[in-house]
Amino acid sequence: MRFPIIAGNWKMNTTVTEAIELVGQLRKGISSAFSVEVVVCPPFVSLAAVKEALKGTSIKLGAQNLHFEDKGAYTGEVSPLMVADLCEVIIIGHSERRQYFGETGEIVNKKIGAALRAGLKPILCIGEKLEDNEAGRTAEVVTEQLRSSLAGIDVFADLVVAYEPIWAIGTGKAAHGKPVNETAALIRRILTELSNQETADSIRILYGGSVTAENIAEFLEQSEIDGALVGGASLKADQFISMVEQAEYIYFPNNPPTKDLIPW
Ligand code: 13P
Repeated sequence: MRFPIIAGNWKMNTTVTEAIELVGQLRKGISSAFSVEVVVCPPFVSLAAVKEALKGTSIKLGAQNLHFEDKGAYTGEVSPLMVADLCEVIIIGHSERRQYFGETGEIVNKKIGAALRAGLKPILCIGEKLEDNEAGRTAEVVTEQLRSSLAGIDVFADLVVAYEPIWAIGTGKAAHGKPVNETAALIRRILTELSNQETADSIRILYGGSVTAENIAEFLEQSEIDGALVGGASLKADQFISMVEQAEYIYFPNNPPTKDLIPW
């Protein structure tokens, strides 16, 4: 049994004040009795304040990036130890970092290793460009990204892989459930090769790219997809709460709806 994850990547959005306000709204709708794992990933500067604001909830905190060195003369960077002091989860290898900040497979690989040494749970992001998708190279690109990101890493059950086709991110053009499910199955086959069947069967695979409360069910209903990494729609409390609720009822249909909400 894989516990589903609904994770919000807030990207470079929200001031500290806005971040605290958003958490206040999320607390009103996300019950600690839910079995779905809920993660929010605000910008670095809000992490400490959001950690405080999340107290008493089961919502986990994640960061969006880290440097691979533990400390040193790297002006403007944030180390795995600093992140691990505040967070449980770390997003690594997001396509926006690969695209705009020159992150290569080798750098992503070093960051995964550093995150694991610091005790963080990585959400490793992979996904193909539009031209690769159109040329039928999705499997090839995803395989290469997965192998280079995890080279020399002892692949373990706590790893989370987010499949985020670049053409679906922020475009309003989400992929479709069936092809994403096929890619997720491919990802799990590669993870099996890199570890073993039992470990690969435990790893959660998420879909990301224009996920909203309106289309999330199409992904959550697929057998190989274990949740979503949500960008834009995670900044709207009603959208995010609805996505968590839908995940709860799709994955745990026998759980009675609960009113055990966390007071603010
Ligand atoms: P959007 O949901 O805004 O398309 O972003 C997806 C994403 O990049 C999450 O990491």
